[in-house]
Amino acid sequence: MDALVSLCKRRGFIYPSSEIYGGLNGFFDYGPLGAELKRNIRNAWWQDMVHRRDDIVGLESSIIMHPKVWEASGHVAGFTDPLVDCKVSKQRYRADQLFFAAVTVEPENSASDSSEKQIIGYVSALESERTTEELQEKAETLKRKKAVRGKLEPVVARDFTEAKPEEYALIPSPATGEPGSLTPPRAFNMMFETNVGAMRDASSIAYLRPETAQGMFVDFKNVIDTTRVKLPFGIAQIGKSFRNEITPRNFIFRSREFEQMEMEYFIHPDADWLACHEAWLKWCQDWLKSIGLPESSLSLYEHPKEKLAFYSRRTVDIMFNYPFGVQELWGIAARSDYDLQQHQKFSGVPQVYFDEAAKARIVPHVIEPAVGVDRILLAVLCAAYAEDEAPDEKGKLEKRTVLRLHPRLAPCKVAVLPLLKNKEALAGRARALHAKLQRRYAVAYDDGGNIGKRYRRQDEAGTPWCVTIDFDTIEKPGDTFTLRERDSMKQERIDEKALFALLDEKLN
Ligand code: GAP
Repeated sequence: MDALVSLCKRRGFIYPSSEIYGGLNGFFDYGPLGAELKRNIRNAWWQDMVHRRDDIVGLESSIIMHPKVWEASGHVAGFTDPLVDCKVSKQRYRADQLFFAAVTVEPENSASDSSEKQIIGYVSALESERTTEELQEKAETLKRKKAVRGKLEPVVARDFTEAKPEEYALIPSPATGEPGSLTPPRAFNMMFETNVGAMRDASSIAYLRPETAQGMFVDFKNVIDTTRVKLPFGIAQIGKSFRNEITPRNFIFRSREFEQMEMEYFIHPDADWLACHEAWLKWCQDWLKSIGLPESSLSLYEHPKEKLAFYSRRTVDIMFNYPFGVQELWGIAARSDYDLQQHQKFSGVPQVYFDEAAKARIVPHVIEPAVGVDRILLAVLCAAYAEDEAPDEKGKLEKRTVLRLHPRLAPCKVAVLPLLKNKEALAGRARALHAKLQRRYAVAYDDGGNIGKRYRRQDEAGTPWCVTIDFDTIEKPGDTFTLRERDSMKQERIDEKALFALLDEKLN
């Protein structure tokens, strides 16, 4: 992860936001290469989700919506995370990410009767790959420190939401290592509030949207009244969402301003919603593989029934094996008719679809695949990042860093490199090719330093192909260039027509 974060900064993929002022936790800027990569992810999704399907239309709704939208959706009352404060260090934790265990010892010489076991204290640790191991180590240290003899029981990790009220004061704060400073968990609403208009009072409160999904529900009637969509059909949207996360972390994985790509697929209430849910689950996995994520890094997590979000009948997450652990990438939820029913109730405007066959008005149900652009971008970078060896100018192998990005996502598709900078015949031909390519693709022109260095620069940026304009190009018949492929580093001669055909095939 450190190597990737450093590459992102060094090569202009991702910067901390407002860095000259010390940064702002949970906010990021995408630099020149990052902006291209992100745009390519959005475009690939839009192309496959909207343009290449007959049953899905696009939407761009406003970020700030009527505050009643969020009352109807349940976000004002229920979009909360459990927050725990440490009164001493002033640190704040998400209770479900703060783990603790009772340290239990079976005293020496006792029969193995459980009533003899005694709790000698508590240990705590934050959620990580090693949470249980860390708790076990801390338990051993506590036993040594208290000089208790006897057999230490293996720790059983629980999160702070599972603590009994009498345990709150006994659990040490992860910041100080001492008990007594953690508050009971309380619900913290994650929506960012603002005021609309000149008055700053309760009547002008509005929210930055915490999801794009509500836009599709609120415009459901507009879409069916102004287009020719017929059930089943979907409305898709890409846009920014905002959540005042208690603990933004893992680089861009969990941030406070992020971008979502969501699609609400409306189906008849009598339709087989489970089959539709399964079909979308498969579509999403296939799509992730199509943009280059290896199948081996993907897995599924079925939300247990008792932990489902208030609107969900079934939710399955597609998980990605990030360097910091297996984490949620894409959530596919069956939302029933919850949202349309709520908006019907709160607005008083019927949210119905006329079923021609049954000659009846119905409220459709919804299957929702919801994913974060930033999370896909991070997964794509993690999967693409590699270190291998490449020959230097003298043929000696040296370490190279390469981003093996799918060509469709690569920020720059081709780099045009004149062999020598000051040779006008080479530079002129290179500039002409560059100008022609530039009309259709994001391309780079690089004439600085030796060819090996220039290849290395493009490898780090994930550019799939480099074309070098050399003496054979201008002296021999055929007007061919050296085409060098990023992953195999293989070189071959190619002319302009074949180059355009290759790009057309690989990128479209
Ligand atoms: N409309 C449903 C919804 O928003 P969610 O599981 O809360 O569901 C959907 O969010 C997706 O948005 C997640 O799977 C994740 O990819 C992305 N996401 C959510 N919170 C995020 C955050 N704080 N930072 C980055 N991405 C986030």
